[in-house]
Amino acid sequence: MGSWPVLTAAVVAVLVVGCGPPEAEGPPNALDAQDAARAMEMGAPAADALAQGLVGRLQEAMEEGGPAGAVDFCAQEALELTHQIQDDHDPSLEVKRTTLRWRNPANAPDAWEERVLQYLDRLERSNPDAVPTELTAAGPDGSLRYYRVLRTAGMCLQCHGDIPSLPSEVQQIVRERYPDDRATGYREGDLRGVIRVEIPAVPGSP
Ligand code: HEC
Repeated sequence: MGSWPVLTAAVVAVLVVGCGPPEAEGPPNALDAQDAARAMEMGAPAADALAQGLVGRLQEAMEEGGPAGAVDFCAQEALELTHQIQDDHDPSLEVKRTTLRWRNPANAPDAWEERVLQYLDRLERSNPDAVPTELTAAGPDGSLRYYRVLRTAGMCLQCHGDIPSLPSEVQQIVRERYPDDRATGYREGDLRGVIRVEIPAVPGSP
């Protein structure tokens, strides 16, 4: 009999901790202020360059070939263009797009990225106003990582919206090239993923 209050207290404690507001958790792999500032300073311009380069080329491809031509462009060139923009901007930085629901498995997150994406996802569900547009975190081997949040705009839905709403050529190309595609079903303004910039550790630093 005497154990009930103890048990109840334990259950209540688990509930309180387990259901605490996720925003109180803070982002994972947090950096100290100096590293966070360096990651921000080096990462933001690289993310800008990639965002502008990719969207610019995507719009051109859409104008030239419609969504079907553009999906071909994305499938063939997005990764290559990502590497090219990275090298033009600063070859010491490594730039990538990643998301929990990827189309191209080559864009799948590593464990460090996954923790950040899950944090953003939880925050988006519990307190969307608190989702930052950019953040920094530690990466493997002493590297710093900068993350820029990507949201879907109206034009993205032609290739990332609900499957039945996609132009039929897009459905077909996506089905053929990405049998494991997870990147559909988005609505305008949804959290789509991130641009991630990796800044390597300074040699000789602790
Ligand atoms: C014409 C079709 C098309 C349009 C429009 C389009 N995408 Fe994609 N998207 C793709 C294809 C195909 C891939 C997979 C190839 C790649 O980029 O590696 C992809 C990949 C991505 C990825 C990389 C992660 C993954 O899922 O593989 C992100 C992030 C992304 N798209 C975001 C967007 C956003 C944001 C927009 C709107 C600005 C957009 N896309 C518009 C076809 C499209």
